[in-house]
Amino acid sequence: MISQELNERLTQTGPGTPMGNLLRRYWHPVGAGAELEKEPVQPVRLLGESLTLFRSAKGDLGLVGERCAHRAISLTYGIPQEHGLRCAYHGWTYDTAGHVVDMPFEPACLPLKIKAYPVQELGGLIWAYLGPEPAPQLPRWDILAREDMDREIVFKPLPCNWLQCMDNSFDPIHFEHLHGKYGNYIMKKLGKPPMLNPARHLKIDFDVFEFGVYKRRLVEGAPEDGTDWTIGHPVLFPCILAQGSPEQQSFQIRTPTDDTNTMHIVYNGRLRKPGQPDQESIPFRRESLEHDEWGRVLGTNIVKQDEMAWVGQGSISDRTAEHLATSDKGVMLFHNLLLQEAEKVERGEEPLGVIRDPAINEPYIHIGRGSRYGAFRSGVQDEIYGGVREGVAAGVSAFLRGFDR
Ligand code: FES
Ligand SMILES: [Fe+2]
Repeated sequence: MISQELNERLTQTGPGTPMGNLLRRYWHPVGAGAELEKEPVQPVRLLGESLTLFRSAKGDLGLVGERCAHRAISLTYGIPQEHGLRCAYHGWTYDTAGHVVDMPFEPACLPLKIKAYPVQELGGLIWAYLGPEPAPQLPRWDILAREDMDREIVFKPLPCNWLQCMDNSFDPIHFEHLHGKYGNYIMKKLGKPPMLNPARHLKIDFDVFEFGVYKRRLVEGAPEDGTDWTIGHPVLFPCILAQGSPEQQSFQIRTPTDDTNTMHIVYNGRLRKPGQPDQESIPFRRESLEHDEWGRVLGTNIVKQDEMAWVGQGSISDRTAEHLATSDKGVMLFHNLLLQEAEKVERGEEPLGVIRDPAINEPYIHIGRGSRYGAFRSGVQDEIYGGVREGVAAGVSAFLRGFDR
């Protein structure tokens, strides 16, 4: 257990807080290009700040403050212009840097400015940077930047702090119980056959590397020289879990909305087969949690069981009451890493994984992933993962012993 003060230090996301300052050193996804095509002005909340995302008529992206400098109507009612966004109320117009460039009912345009942040599009996602200038490179992770993959994106808002989602990624053994025992219990209640029979974890370990932490696991029946143990799967510091194999990859991005809300983004990529046409655009959809009649989250597939666990810890998990044990060594490592990197920012140093050299980013950053071991009977992935398909399924197949259906 930790003190309330330390729990706040770990979980607060707002401007001026230690973790808020650390999280502001990284780019975060706040929207999707395909959706912005249909709705070019959208409210966005990131790291406790309410903002307005827009695409101008010319196609430029802007991320500006929530409210108009005139009389404070929400700019999300604004109208895209050739060079910016026009307020719905009296037409004051903002460029992508937040400057007022037109006041149609005034004799002259006053030199006003509202806040504005850099925003870029990559891999079908719109990414924002809320930290000090100059902004670092937006990392061109392989799955985002490769041109030979078909992708899909799902956004799901969760009413809990982002750290609960990340803690789960440093806790490999939950797979055996949450997705095995609990998943099968839920299936039984629904009158369905058991879902999984996961292999037992023999060893887990974690290696910090230049962009985050590799988590490794050795399960019963897997070879010691298998890449699931020798390489593992990375968490890209601080908010992305990378899973999958070279052919089918997945990111789970846990974007901190504010202290008590997270946008869970599932990003799947699959290597395009020879002769298959390129995707015209990357499909995007928003989903919501499902609940039972008592208001509990329904954990009917693997991703939903994880979301159930995160939300089930409360809006901000009370870590003053928890008892971390030996199997939580990854959780402890991640918390220590966050605190260490936040201290670096306080000292004016660059934290882990921030990329300044554009050459590192070209043409994209290859993320090594261990290959899978064990049986994953084809044809059942969709059922288990719901909307999240083989990209994620492949990533966990390493530690499945088979299905007992
Ligand atoms: S409130 Fe925006 S122009 Fe008046
Ligand atoms: Fe899980």
